[in-house]
Amino acid sequence: MDYAKRAKRLEPERAFSMLERISTMVAAGRNIISFHIGEPDFATPENIKTAACSSIHANRTHYSPPSGVPELRIAIADYMSKTRGMQISPEQVVVSAGTKLAIFCAIMSCVESGADVLGPVPTYPAYPSIVNMIGANYVPIPLIETDSGFRMDLDRLANAVTPNASMIVLNSPHNPTGALLPREDLERIAEIATEHDLWVLSDEIYSRLVYDGSFASILSLPGMADRTIVVDGFSKAYAMTGWRLGFAVVNRTLAGLLDTFMANVHSCTATFTQYAGIEALTGPQYEVEKMRLKFVKRRDLIVTELNSIPGFRCHLPAGAFYAFPNVTEACRIAGLPDADRLQDDLLERAGVAVLSMTAFNAQRDPEADQYVRISYATGEREILEGTRRIRDFMSARVGLRFHRD
Ligand SMILES: Cc1ncc(COP(=O)(O)O)c(C=O)c1O
Repeated sequence: MDYAKRAKRLEPERAFSMLERISTMVAAGRNIISFHIGEPDFATPENIKTAACSSIHANRTHYSPPSGVPELRIAIADYMSKTRGMQISPEQVVVSAGTKLAIFCAIMSCVESGADVLGPVPTYPAYPSIVNMIGANYVPIPLIETDSGFRMDLDRLANAVTPNASMIVLNSPHNPTGALLPREDLERIAEIATEHDLWVLSDEIYSRLVYDGSFASILSLPGMADRTIVVDGFSKAYAMTGWRLGFAVVNRTLAGLLDTFMANVHSCTATFTQYAGIEALTGPQYEVEKMRLKFVKRRDLIVTELNSIPGFRCHLPAGAFYAFPNVTEACRIAGLPDADRLQDDLLERAGVAVLSMTAFNAQRDPEADQYVRISYATGEREILEGTRRIRDFMSARVGLRFHRD
């Protein structure tokens, strides 16, 4: 017996393997501050939980249509029409068990094996993993650190388009840098996509978590509606990571293909969860705003604390809940070769879990600038304690090096 090559091309996600590593350490009595996972620590709002329980009691526990229950598709179409400033019809909406499944089915439906998919690096790792699995090529477009934060290198994007190119992947606000794509960048990307007849997969899962500037979707730009696949979901804005509820907004032809995909892959998303999704979108929104305001406070706190650690330099991210400090100098003064080693030492010696840039498909290259991702989807007490531990670790390393030198 052998295994299909495509299965071996899928990559595990480091955030989840780190979770296992931490569980083993915690079971052995270690105390770990977790800055590694992108999951709000808030409870799902009560009105959403009540709607799910009522749905179960009303026996909404059977199969539903593969693209989702009509009421949820209507609620999503209304929400998208309002927030993206254009008319979206329910027939353009396909519900899925999490945004990740929508990403998977969209890439499977639109990209041939052998084609090029152009996307950011560092990046949410599911895009390259899925692209590689289907035998296509993920062409990395670097995000460049500027004085005001991270920007996609649009000249590199334009030059990377070959006759093989099939799709551009965007993610704004961005995981792991927290950067927001400005409107002028979206306009240039739209021009490139139109000129070369490319799909645009726009992952907008953090669009409700914007702190500076305003969110813009490439979907709303003239002529982009047919070629844009927006994926979004309930995990981050409503603290619903474990519910597995996401969606895609696409042209009607692709909606039909995705419907068949969903029917084959999982028949449908859990029916009572979908009714909870209707409550999330149409019920009171103050909990979402409350969480967003807490994220702003946490962001400001963590960036201030990180910038006070020797060798750490951190921009104020515009959205999502990640800080992505430059730790090149920290590695140098601590005598560590790269961010991977810093990640491991912070976990083992300081009891703080962060993720190195290589968890986001950046090459392991000690000559390049080094970064780690720090999630601030955690309480202010943990932020203060975690950054104190990192500062103590750095001070001890620097002392040790001076001592040795
Ligand atoms: C950019 C991005 N897209 C998609 C997802 C997956 O979301 P979901 O929980 O809805 O599958 C994540 C989760 O971390 C993410 O960061």
